[in-house]
Amino acid sequence: FRALRWAWRLTWLSAIGLTGTVAYSIFELRQPPEQSPPDPSKKTLVILGTGWGSVSLLKKLDTENYNVIVVSPHRSIMEPIRNILRHKKASVKFYEAEATKIDYEKRIVYVSDDSEVKGDVSHTEIPFDMLVIGVGAENATFGIPGVRENSCFLKEVGDAQNIRKRIMDCIETACFKDQTDDEVKRLLHMVVVGGGPTGVEFAGELQDFFNDDLKKWIPEIKDNFKVTLVEALPNVLPMFSKQLIDYTESTFKEEEISIRTKTMVKKVTDKYIQAEVTKPDGTKELETIPYGLLVWATGNAIRGVVRDLMSQLPAQANSRRGLAVNEYLVVNGTDNVWAVGDCAIANYAPTAQVASQEGAFLGRLFNTMAKSEALEQELNHLSERQSQAKNDEERNQIFDEIRERQKQLRRNKQIGPFQYSHQGSLAYIGKERAVADISWLSGNIASGGTMTYLFWRSAYLSMCFSTRNRVLVCLDWVKARLFGRDVSRE
Ligand code: NAI
Repeated sequence: FRALRWAWRLTWLSAIGLTGTVAYSIFELRQPPEQSPPDPSKKTLVILGTGWGSVSLLKKLDTENYNVIVVSPHRSIMEPIRNILRHKKASVKFYEAEATKIDYEKRIVYVSDDSEVKGDVSHTEIPFDMLVIGVGAENATFGIPGVRENSCFLKEVGDAQNIRKRIMDCIETACFKDQTDDEVKRLLHMVVVGGGPTGVEFAGELQDFFNDDLKKWIPEIKDNFKVTLVEALPNVLPMFSKQLIDYTESTFKEEEISIRTKTMVKKVTDKYIQAEVTKPDGTKELETIPYGLLVWATGNAIRGVVRDLMSQLPAQANSRRGLAVNEYLVVNGTDNVWAVGDCAIANYAPTAQVASQEGAFLGRLFNTMAKSEALEQELNHLSERQSQAKNDEERNQIFDEIRERQKQLRRNKQIGPFQYSHQGSLAYIGKERAVADISWLSGNIASGGTMTYLFWRSAYLSMCFSTRNRVLVCLDWVKARLFGRDVSRE
């Protein structure tokens, strides 16, 4: 009984301790300490973008070392950027604006406010000493007519909201009184173009939405709602192993998502897709596919601001897919511009995993550079003092200090080049299943199914930038499980 009583007390104590810790973390989060003001006498470090690369950099960066300015037209998708910045030691300036041009010679970034509310000034310039470009990429459309005007994309939060609105509009219009059968079928045909991870994950999620919620709320659409994934190559998910490609294709079959491989979209109008289909005998045929929702997910293209900078740098003349960088992520042809994420070409796939490792690397690099500079200044100061020393004892004492600082400086400068550590590829394929090619020791593990889905969820949570985000994402999952997905229009 005594043991039980103690166990009971211990349980209570740990529960109180845990609650106290969580409450204190929340309090600390909501009451960030005072920040030191930005110091314009320090080097100005301008960071463009608030995606995986830039946010990872900001998390690692000691902002007391630089006068830091962040420019991005969107608040970060991962976590409110002002929240992250408010918790840094020294304050950081944030401008919600788009970088329209980078003048490398003049060391100036031109920015413009493209929000709906405009003040007297909506275009201005920001001079920089150091610049990090993490602006990502834009949607590749390969100049295919009608794609920009008629498709929904999957890059920004606004894109997701558009898709949600469009799905509900298609459904409600299909249910309109006296709608013809062909028109109902067209409106309820949801077409996803691009069989990379973006297209596959979206098609899986959309079918889940139909199976878990839509079918139950609006039973009249159940025979005509259809999701189709269109891919130009002979199979989807080319970066995964053959076994996982087969698993994905068979899961899609079970879910009744149709996969149209060897089907290349050539033209899009407001109601139809024209695609060139390669038949098993190798002949090609043009086909017209009616659609209600078209989601375009065919990969990345270079943003205008990046293309313009490339045209200013002869060293970038042969680079086709983005800013070529060296092993320290310095943009080739510059000495004070770095690039991270999808806009940088460093021989890695344009994934979140690469971008966040690059950003964290730059954070460490900049902290080290600032420390080295401080040590060098200290060494200059010590040499001066040594030359003015009054006696041998003082001279020897300063000499020892100089040797110590030199040792620290050598150690500090030993930061190696960026090395990407590939943790594997992971994608959700719907029906609470995921596929994973995980790097393990020196080998590779391929797995697919419900356990992989649980692994996908935990990996998803671990990639969230903060405890706050993790808690909010978990609550969203619970909310969707209990009450269905949120289909409010805004
Ligand atoms: P992607 O470049 O991986 O795939 C695009 C697909 O569209 C290609 O298979 C291509 O053959 C196809 N395509 C191109 N033009 C077409 C046309 N006219 N008609 C039909 N099909 C056409 O692009 P995605 O999926 O947006 O991914 C971009 C990057 O982001 C990749 O590096 C990917 O690995 C990464 N990513 C990773 C995720 C994950 O790990 N779960 C999730 C989303 C993206």
